Amino acid sequence: MKKFIKNLPKAELHLHIEGSFEPELMFKIAKRNSIKIPFNSVKEIENAYKFNCLQDFLDIYYQGAQVLITEQDFYDLTFSYLQKCNEQNVRHTEIMFDPQTHTERGISFATVINGISKAQKDAKEQFGITSLLIMSYLRHLSEEDAFKTLEQSLPFKDLITCVGLDSSEKGNPPSKFKNVFKKSEEVGYIPVAHAGEEGNADYVWEALDLLNIKRIDHGNNALQDKKLIAEIIKRDLALTVCPLSNTALQVVTDLKEHPLKEMMNLGLKVTINSDDPAFFGGQVNQNYIEIQKALDLTKEDLYELAKNSFQYSFLDKETKEKYLTELEMYFEKNK
Ligand code: ADE
Ligand code: ZN
Repeated sequence: MKKFIKNLPKAELHLHIEGSFEPELMFKIAKRNSIKIPFNSVKEIENAYKFNCLQDFLDIYYQGAQVLITEQDFYDLTFSYLQKCNEQNVRHTEIMFDPQTHTERGISFATVINGISKAQKDAKEQFGITSLLIMSYLRHLSEEDAFKTLEQSLPFKDLITCVGLDSSEKGNPPSKFKNVFKKSEEVGYIPVAHAGEEGNADYVWEALDLLNIKRIDHGNNALQDKKLIAEIIKRDLALTVCPLSNTALQVVTDLKEHPLKEMMNLGLKVTINSDDPAFFGGQVNQNYIEIQKALDLTKEDLYELAKNSFQYSFLDKETKEKYLTELEMYFEKNK
């Protein structure tokens, strides 16, 4: 099964580039920029990665991102993640980045996006991996701040496909960002949002009805509401589920209790993703491997999950078809 997963062509649709920052690279870049971090070794960092909730994690995640200063830093971070994609047969990835985490510290929007997009271009040339960008607004900040970010993004509009919403969910409902999402959609960005990770089903309803989202990040708590499940199916929206993130942040107590299979049985379109792989103990393939084992998923289930990952990506029709054909051929040969 591990080999089947390893070679399975797949897409990753929920990945925070700042969450892919491995301790080794963090040390290297901190040293290069003469920045002190409050850890002395990779082991010490790994030991600090124990979380009781989303906020616990976010505090340490934003701290780590502070060592990123130059375009080269953002390039190295992104290219390192894309190399891992290549090793895992991730053929396409939709990368979230949090501009405000950096612009708040005086790093320019251009520095961030130029570094990231050069790495995307090189990975396309060297590995054939396609990728696109989701610019995510930090929901613990104000809508006014998000509007500023939208404004800063406009000169780089061609490099960005979607807008997203992440960070501390509870107390920061989607309704807070209604106007900036409306404007973002008007300028051509596709809206997605984290919803129902720690927030309840009402937050998912708001993301659907007020932000007009085209995909749901996490969505676990949508299961609290039958009408909502029916609405998600009616709108044909996929859920980007992140199993190891869910256990690391205590959204789910044990992988054996993870609702992924239940979601699939209800007719929801589900994909598997790593969220913040450097912090949660595994890249996307590790997420497939551990959830397969915990829920006893079949090869057909894994095929369906990988199929969804391409089907519900924001790729153009032709590229989607190309990947889906590749996947189908793989499955027919290896089932
Ligand atoms: N930012 C990075 N990872 C996140 C998550 N799992 N939820 C909300 N915001 C995030
Ligand atoms: Zn996330």
